[in-house]
Amino acid sequence: MSEEVTLKVWRGDKSGGDTVEYQVPKETGMVVLDALHYIQHNDAPDLAVRWNCKAAHCGSCGAEVNGQPKLLCKTRLDDYDGQTVEVRPMQTFPVIKDLVTDVSWNYEVARQIPMLEPTVPAPFDMQQIDADRVQEFHRCIECFLCQDTCHVLRNHEGQKQYFGPRFMIKIAEFEMHPLDGADRVPLLANQAGVNMCNVTKCCTEVCPQHIRITDNAIIPLKERVADRYYDPVKILLRRLTGK
Ligand code: SF4
Ligand code: F3S
Ligand code: FES
Repeated sequence: MSEEVTLKVWRGDKSGGDTVEYQVPKETGMVVLDALHYIQHNDAPDLAVRWNCKAAHCGSCGAEVNGQPKLLCKTRLDDYDGQTVEVRPMQTFPVIKDLVTDVSWNYEVARQIPMLEPTVPAPFDMQQIDADRVQEFHRCIECFLCQDTCHVLRNHEGQKQYFGPRFMIKIAEFEMHPLDGADRVPLLANQAGVNMCNVTKCCTEVCPQHIRITDNAIIPLKERVADRYYDPVKILLRRLTGK
């Protein structure tokens, strides 16, 4: 007889809910999403879980496994050998049903970020070093696990003050493009709230794409804001030149 694993899955909606226990036969290489599919097929056909690629590419299956933000399709049951596996929806976003959350706030944030404004018409040449710098940010699959773990956004009031790590990457992608002509520094200092980040690096730790969010995006963006608004020499020069 195959080994069984106990899953506790949060069931409910915006009015409330609780975890429900299920037993799932464990097979070699099984991921948490496989176990949830087993539950859907055998015990709870109405269990809501969002997924698409089952290959860690689409970013749809973000949830919390034993308290950690994870992609359900990339998280192996073997990582929790002998433990009960508790699966809950991402806490930062409002729950719709069971493990499915409403992440639409992120798309509202995205709309506030000015796109790339090339200073010369395409096609143009780029140095390899400049291409490499932004390439890391292109790996983002918009799973929003970094948004889920960021303590500023977990406090829902924080969502009015900070765009969150995913969108610091988005802004860095444009800001570090050598031919971009837009000025996003006032946005960063105000609505995007880069200074709300206190560099805990929890976002970097949970990113399934291993993007160095804090070191390579957030800290350089904080420096741009500091240069613009807090560097006394630059402030004096601006006053003298009026620029
Ligand atoms: Fe997900 Fe990483 Fe992109 Fe954040 S930066 S949304 S954790 S892939
Ligand atoms: Fe949040 Fe990451 Fe900063 S977790 S506080 S954005 S370092
Ligand atoms: Fe696509 Fe998990 S189902 S990332």
